[in-house]
Amino acid sequence: MAGPDTHLQQPWGTAHGIPMVNAFAHDWVRIDTFQSRPEDIAVVTFPNSGTTWVSEIVDVILKGGDPKKCKRDAIINRVPMLEFAAPGKMPAETEQLEAMVSPRIIKTHIPAHILPKSFWENTCKMIYMGCNAKDMAISFYHFDLMNKLHPHPGTWAQYLEEFMSGRVAYGSWYNHVKDYWERRKDHPILYLFYEDLKEDLRREIVKVAQFLGRELPEAALDAITRHTSFEAMRDNPTTNYSMVPPQFMDHSISPFMRKGTAGDWKNHFTVAQNERFDQDYTQKMSGTDLRFRTQI
Ligand code: PPS
Repeated sequence: MAGPDTHLQQPWGTAHGIPMVNAFAHDWVRIDTFQSRPEDIAVVTFPNSGTTWVSEIVDVILKGGDPKKCKRDAIINRVPMLEFAAPGKMPAETEQLEAMVSPRIIKTHIPAHILPKSFWENTCKMIYMGCNAKDMAISFYHFDLMNKLHPHPGTWAQYLEEFMSGRVAYGSWYNHVKDYWERRKDHPILYLFYEDLKEDLRREIVKVAQFLGRELPEAALDAITRHTSFEAMRDNPTTNYSMVPPQFMDHSISPFMRKGTAGDWKNHFTVAQNERFDQDYTQKMSGTDLRFRTQI
């Protein structure tokens, strides 16, 4: 069995050729053979795109809009991350999922083409959340700094090159967002945008509830909107990741609930970086009608 610190700050591993968190990449057969259930709800994102936000929204909707019921446990236990594993430290999350009663809410960042086949075969509902690449990359950079299961990302300038080349965990953001966008045509995928939730959270919560076939009274919708505001989730120990063991996450470097805004990239990108990024983005995103907003 691996020693306790074997997977801390290690270079990326790979899963089917995609860069993967080293600790997660081992024994990937557990992912390939994972058995979904038709009533599973998958929350799918590229990292740092608002996964925790959507996960909390889905859980509180399933609980009839009662925020108190969501305080029963940390988000990582209520919405387990399919690929999470810390060998020698914690059991793989697939084991926790197997023991859960339905309907399970399952978080994952796995790209569509290597997602366990069972999710497609069982036509499981998926809620995909996309965030514009600039804000998402800034958030991911800070997450790499504080998350000890990830390698140190270097300087922002170095990291940006890695990001654009797809040499970050889960590979190319561009392919990730485009692939799920295309697959929504043949599969029940609700495709959400971080910026839309920032713009009108209640409107987007209604969309999620409708997609899940849940009708909620106005008062419940109001309660969910309050419960899932940035400030409420930042101050809630079950959603702000403060319950994650400190050897994995160091919030003193950068808190998990860092800024929660759209447009923070403007405080980090230089003019030259922005120009280069935009040029590259146009090429990589040509041929898709998927559009992101970099400000609201
Ligand atoms: S992870 O580790 O991939 O699951 O991270 P993820 O949850 O996808 O993304 C973390 C970012 O989402 C922000 N966040 C929110 N923003 C607005 N409102 C709410 N309620 C909310 N909850 C989480 C969180 O602050 C991270 O973004 P940054 O920009 O770093 O603050």
